[in-house]
Amino acid sequence: MKQEVTSKKVFIRTLGCQMNVRDSEVIGGLLARAGYEITDDEQQADIVIFNTCSVRQMAEDRVWSAVGNAVNREKHRDSPQKAGTVPIIGITGCMANNYREAIFEKAPAVDFVVGTADIGKLPEIIKEIQKHKGSLNEKKIYETDAEFREDEIYHTGFRLDKEHAFVVISEGCENFCSYCVVPYVRGKLRSRDPEDILKEIKADVDAGISKITLLGQNVNAYHWVDKNRDSPQKPGTVPVFTFDFVKLLTMVNRISGLKEFTFVTSHPKDTSIELFKAMAELDKLRKYMHLPVQSGSDRILKMMNRRYTRENYLNLAKSYREIVRGGELTTDIIVGFPGETEKDFQDTFDLVKEAEFNAGFIFKYSPRPHTEALKLPDDVSREEKERRHALILELQKKISKKLRKKI
Ligand code: SAH
Ligand code: SF4
Ligand code: F3S
Repeated sequence: MKQEVTSKKVFIRTLGCQMNVRDSEVIGGLLARAGYEITDDEQQADIVIFNTCSVRQMAEDRVWSAVGNAVNREKHRDSPQKAGTVPIIGITGCMANNYREAIFEKAPAVDFVVGTADIGKLPEIIKEIQKHKGSLNEKKIYETDAEFREDEIYHTGFRLDKEHAFVVISEGCENFCSYCVVPYVRGKLRSRDPEDILKEIKADVDAGISKITLLGQNVNAYHWVDKNRDSPQKPGTVPVFTFDFVKLLTMVNRISGLKEFTFVTSHPKDTSIELFKAMAELDKLRKYMHLPVQSGSDRILKMMNRRYTRENYLNLAKSYREIVRGGELTTDIIVGFPGETEKDFQDTFDLVKEAEFNAGFIFKYSPRPHTEALKLPDDVSREEKERRHALILELQKKISKKLRKKI
């Protein structure tokens, strides 16, 4: 019996942060709209997309080996139609922007590389690759230069989770923390029009979703300015319509049918008492704040370009606890930043003790391309990073357990 060979099944493998989880869904939505079938079975897929992360070396290593595995597995696949063939393989996400066409040298089996702001072009790019795959003029395509996304890519209505949805409120980050690759791979901070955000959430709620997470790499720096819209507050002046993060939260809270919402990730420099007050007041907003501190040493914070001091941070944490009663506070920490001494480490250890986070994610410093910190020697040994990592992890575990018991 002649079996129909379709070449329309797409498998998307997501690595990295929640932003990538949402981006994979956006990609899925665009491809589904173009007639592709999104499968969760990689073995059956004709097109495999790796939506990648560059935040630490380990994240990237995982991608290179996953690409290698996909190629090997397919070469030995036990199917007469597919023997010896390899699916179309694509790289999207942060590694696409980080390495661009160099990806084709490192992984020759890759057919396309599409950057974080270029995902709207995917249906076209894949179609083009398919047209020529297996022929003499097989193509490799890379597109990594777009500066912004068309808002319509967020409105395909394609959702994998039927109860909870991620909603991007801003793309990119321009904080340039010295260790971080994100500003180089995600571009400048761009806030979305509040009307588009509210429209997207309302459509989700109409589709039965009751929980929302607002996403941004620096979520609380959200700020919308529209010079073309009338401003009823300022009659007689040039119309300027502005919208900040607290205002957006207030609007989201009003959406009927929505039960709960939250946001990640906040930067301490953009965290205000007004925000805490809003968190205390808005009934649908989860009393939860992820506020990465990264280090407890002023010297290291300065080298990291974090733009706050240990004291600023501890004061913020204190105000949060006072204003947002019973709220959860979580953090990220990096150990082994270049030049981190035992004293610097102790400062971080003590801060963790003092702040009493409900949870903490502890990372070992990993030098990243493009970043300022790359110029500094990565001089804390692997063993020492591991020791510091284990010590803070253990301390945090104890604190988390204690706080859970209290609740
Ligand atoms: N925008 C968010 C998330 C950034 S990435 C924020 O500002 O918090 C998530 C976490 O990864 C960071 O908070 C940081 O703790 C960690 N991280 C980023 N770059 C790193 C690097 N080069 N080495 C180790 N950890 C890193
Ligand atoms: Fe990276 Fe800093 Fe931006 Fe977070 S705030 S994404 S750590 S540059
Ligand atoms: Fe990774 Fe990019 Fe997110 S580097 S953490 S996938 S923004």
